[in-house]
Amino acid sequence: MVFSQQNFDKLSEYIYRKSGISLEHTAHYDKLYKQLKKRANEENYSSFRSYFYALRFGDYKDQEFESLINAVTVNETYFFRENHQFEILIDDVLPTIHANKKANEPIRILSAPCSSGEEPYSIALHLLEDDDLINKRDFELVGIDIDSQIIDKANRGIYSERSVHVLSSEIKDRYFTKKNGSYELDPDIRGAISFKKANVFDKKEMHDLGKFDVIFSRNMLIYFDDVSRKEVAMNFYNMLNPKGFILLGHAEYMNRIVTVFKPVEFKKHIIYQK
Ligand SMILES: C[S@@+](CC[C@H](N)C(=O)[O-])C[C@H]1O[C@@H](n2cnc3c(N)ncnc32)[C@H](O)[C@@H]1O
Repeated sequence: MVFSQQNFDKLSEYIYRKSGISLEHTAHYDKLYKQLKKRANEENYSSFRSYFYALRFGDYKDQEFESLINAVTVNETYFFRENHQFEILIDDVLPTIHANKKANEPIRILSAPCSSGEEPYSIALHLLEDDDLINKRDFELVGIDIDSQIIDKANRGIYSERSVHVLSSEIKDRYFTKKNGSYELDPDIRGAISFKKANVFDKKEMHDLGKFDVIFSRNMLIYFDDVSRKEVAMNFYNMLNPKGFILLGHAEYMNRIVTVFKPVEFKKHIIYQK
């Protein structure tokens, strides 16, 4: 199958419109071409044109798009990544929310995107390890990602050495079982997170998740352009309870995207409040 520059532009424009992800020719041409050749073999697409038609109008267009997205997402993540943010959550953010919330209401935390689950599971481990709040208050932890395969992986909770490389041996011993070189997370912790495939641009999917007190959105906005970042930032704004907090990755700055959040400094790091 021929995959010209023009074909690449059409396909990446379509992906951008549906997911916000901006692709570059140098970094993504090979990935897209590989996916196209794979699908052409499986479904006998004879040309880019027939593939692109099936992607937009075919009976299985949603599944086709899903497998295309799964092929281009960057899922890099690991337990306790940028650990100071989990410390800020435990020491500063949660006590503030706890003090201002009705006693019988749960604190809801969203990880968007959660990739293979290390981020929301890190939140759960910090709650268990460091916080006496867990005995006073119910928590609901939700993880979402656009990539369906990575959500399956998050639900399985089986990790490589690389995923757990910053965890102490005490934490690994306490919460994981080592099997054939992999680390299997305790089933009770796996059951504590509700994982869902969802697209942060999809207003209905976001609305259906309900309101949250804290949103972690780390290392996804960097893959979007300014227009998309703004749209997602406003979706998050609408999903937060009043005075709720949002934490971004170290290369992401909310005030360059929208001005509706108030920057707040904890432990010399900036996070944002509604
Ligand atoms: C690099 S991972 C970040 C994971 C984790 N937050 C962390 O910082 O370790 C980026 C994730 O964003 C997800 N993603 C990209 N576009 C998305 C979208 N429109 N909606 C939801 N998730 C998306 C990708 O599938 C990928 O798993």
